[in-house]
Order: sequence, then structure tokens, then C-alpha cells
Amino acid sequence: MRDSYGRKIDYLRVSVTDRCNLRCRYCMPEGSEWIPMEEIMTFEEITRLCREAAALGITKYKITGGEPLVRRGCPALVRMIREIPGVQQVTMTSNGILLERYLTELLDAGLSAVNVSLDTTDREKYREITGFDELPQVLRSIRAASGAGLRVKINAVLQEGLNAGAWEGLLHFTEEGLADIRFIELMPIGRGTDGHMVSNEELFRKIEARYGPLVRDGAFHGNGPAVYYRVADWPRSVGFISAIHGKFCGHCNRLRLSSTGQLKPCLCYEDSLDVRGALRGGSDAGVRDILKKAIQGKPRMHCFEDTGAVTERQEMAKIGG
Ligand code: GTP
Ligand code: 5AD
Ligand code: SF4
Repeated sequence: MRDSYGRKIDYLRVSVTDRCNLRCRYCMPEGSEWIPMEEIMTFEEITRLCREAAALGITKYKITGGEPLVRRGCPALVRMIREIPGVQQVTMTSNGILLERYLTELLDAGLSAVNVSLDTTDREKYREITGFDELPQVLRSIRAASGAGLRVKINAVLQEGLNAGAWEGLLHFTEEGLADIRFIELMPIGRGTDGHMVSNEELFRKIEARYGPLVRDGAFHGNGPAVYYRVADWPRSVGFISAIHGKFCGHCNRLRLSSTGQLKPCLCYEDSLDVRGALRGGSDAGVRDILKKAIQGKPRMHCFEDTGAVTERQEMAKIGG
């Protein structure tokens, strides 16, 4: 289905939990409160919504969290969505800690690709950012997933005064052919307002100065807003998600579903439509109507660059990235 600006909406991000086994400072610092389980959508409810979404032409699904793999039975949900007629792809964004453990089940369930969030390759810095000494496990998961033939992309958020120099270590995954890397500009969402963004324009120049020209890579690597480049002779790509400097809203293709059943037309704003009520007490047609309303209600663009604007205040972990 197309929205009121003519954009084709064919991608749904499904957050299955607000919980996480890490405490990244900019996403879910100490002291976050858990949502009670009865407010969280069941897998059956999520699948019913996805069936209606598929009927409206939404063919690609991203499972996110918090950390999706802390929710028990997550591979079963991948299978349930994968089996809906019309669904072409189910992918996941994870912090990688439990990925090695669930890899076989996820592959069996039909997972198409995985994004692993990793902001540094320095063990001490990783502990400082996330609160846990889990870097070795994340590295094992990346190698296991890539080795099993699953497409792996790494998501890195760089911040001045914290991990601005981490790009050099992270690029090794790409040089070695284990994964694509994507550098995401920090967005002023939730606790993201406390950090200092590294501009992707600046980073682009630094990477070119170190490794030579970055050549635009037009191949398809996912359904998100990343723009990809290649360093000569490297087997995988370097992507940039320039959320602030490269407004990509003109190509927006997505809706978001929170773990409590709120449909968000845009990441930037607090607005959402409750679909859980319809799933618990209403008809399939009612669910489909709410999906249509969310698509029709998509704004033209985000307003992150407007420092006075009221944007989403919830933590990123509650929205799913
Ligand atoms: P694939 O390319 O298919 O893997 O999807 P993706 O890039 O959308 O997936 P991922 O979950 O890895 O998202 C990476 C990050 O991109 C998100 O966490 C956000 O930081 C950013 N992002 C994704 N969608 C949007 C969006 O609609 N608006 C903005 N501003 N940022 C987004
Ligand atoms: N700005 C940009 N990216 C963010 N993420 C979490 N919070 C923010 C933010 N404020 C990223 C994580 C993860 C993805 C799902 O979202 O690093 O890779
Ligand atoms: Fe968890 Fe990812 Fe948020 Fe870190 S960025 S707290 S790993 S959801």
C-alpha cells in the first residue's frame, strides 16, 4: 500500500520485547523499567497482525527488541511470520550475545539475514558502553552466523568522547569478508539526546583518507535506509545510515510495531495507534483498518535537526530502533 506521499510501504519492524541483556548508555541505561508481560503482545497476536499487514503488501519483516533473543521462543515467531502467504523476508537486529546459541533454530525457521549491533572492537570500551564483558561472545556469534552462510551486517553508533575512533577496528570485519558494516548517526531519541553524534560526512572523509576512494555500491543489501560503498578489493560493503545529515525520509518504506502493540508511523514522533485493543477484542478487518490509518498517517519526514521540536521521548529499546 502507498502512503499519502506516494511512498510504497512494504516493511514492518516488529519489536518483540523492551527487555535487553545489555545496558547501552544511549539506548537502555540502568534504571529502565520493564513493561509487565500481560501488556506485551503474544506471538499469536503479532502473527495475526502480520497476516493483515501482508494482505496490504507488507512483505518484509524485521524482528527487533530491546534484544529479541531474550524473549523465549523467538525462532518460533520467525517461522510463524515466514509462513504467512506473501511474506518474502524475515530478518533480525540483535546485539549478538544469544545469536550463536539460537543460530541453528533461526536458520531452520527461515531467517534471511541478521544485523548485529556492535559499537567497538575494544573489550574494555565494549564493557564501558554496554555494561557487560560480552565482546568475545558477540565476536563468536558473528563468526558463527557468517560461517553458516547467514548474511551479517554490523550496526555501529559512534559518539564523540566515547568511541569515535572505533571505525578502524570495525572495518576489519568488512575487509575480512565477515560482514558489512553500517555507521549510524546518533539520533536524539530517548537517551540519545545525551550523546554527541559523529557526523557520517566526516567519517566518510576519514575512511577515504585511510583506505582510498569509497565507490558507491548499488547492490541490494537490505530494506533499510543505509547507503553502501566499497573500498577497492574488499569483499563486503561499508554502509552509512545518515539519519541526521542525509534525510532519507523521501524513500521511507516502513511502519513500526512496539512490543505493546502500538503502531508507529514514524520513528521521530511520539504519535502511535493502538492495535492491541483490536487484536484482543476486534475483528481482522478492524486490525487492517488501523494498519491502513497508520500508513496514511505517515508524516513526510522526521524533524531531528530541529532542536526545539518535540520528538519521541521513549528509550530506543522500547521502539526497536
Ligand atoms: P536492513 O537494511 O534490511 O537490515 O534494515 P535496517 O537498516 O532498517 O535495520 P536495523 O534494524 O539494523 O536498523 C538500523 C538503524 O537504522 C535503526 O536502528 C535506526 O537507527 C535506523 N533506522 C531504521 N529505520 C529508520 C527510520 O525509519 N528512520 C530513521 N531516522 N532511522 C531509521
Ligand atoms: N540513534 C541511532 N541509533 C540508535 N540505536 C539505538 N539508539 C540509537 C540512537 N539514539 C541503534 C543501536 C542498534 C539499532 C537497533 O539502533 O545501536 O544497532
Ligand atoms: Fe540493547 Fe541494543 Fe539497546 Fe544496546 S542498543 S541496550 S543492545 S537494544
